[in-house]
Amino acid sequence: MTRRIRTAVFISGRGSNMQSLVHAAKAKDYPADIVLVISNRPEATGLEFARANGITAIAVDHKLYGKDRAAFEGELHKILLEHKIELVCLAGFMRLMTADFVNRWAGRMLNIHPALLPAYKGLHTHERALADGVAQHGCTVHFVVPEMDEGPVILQRAVPVLPDDTPETLSARVLEQEHIAYPAALAQVAKSRL
Ligand code: GRF
Repeated sequence: MTRRIRTAVFISGRGSNMQSLVHAAKAKDYPADIVLVISNRPEATGLEFARANGITAIAVDHKLYGKDRAAFEGELHKILLEHKIELVCLAGFMRLMTADFVNRWAGRMLNIHPALLPAYKGLHTHERALADGVAQHGCTVHFVVPEMDEGPVILQRAVPVLPDDTPETLSARVLEQEHIAYPAALAQVAKSRL
């Protein structure tokens, strides 16, 4: 069996992007192997999906660490080392990381954001895009740097904004593209590390 890059996915909720990565990694020639899923919310439905697919799934409840972000991240880092993780994919992971943690994983941590960065950093991207009346919206996979939703872009996919769009219809159209973009971006990064 050819070597594949050991990859962890961080989630906070439904984990549909994580699921798209797991599905893509089932192909024999996919250059990354999803070996670990971590959620900061123990109730995240994505954890069950991961376990059902034979992937180690661990909850690290950020609430147990109070304001001590370094301790929370220390636990994440320890688990990543234990599992010999080489790449981390943030997929709907709703915690901001300290510069310390991000820098430890510089060039080895990816994120997906539901907008065409640098447009619409932060939350509620679909609502804001609709309010501005833009013609195009989309998603971005990028390397994570200490500044939120910045960092080198790996891949973007655009969708049209239609006249009768609501935040829900627009977000569904973007999500479809996220599920194509993330597996493609991870493949690109993993291949370059083999
Ligand atoms: C996605 O829209 C992603 O771009 C954003 O949060 C959402 C997570 O969805 N960061 P899911 O948990 O992957 O289904």
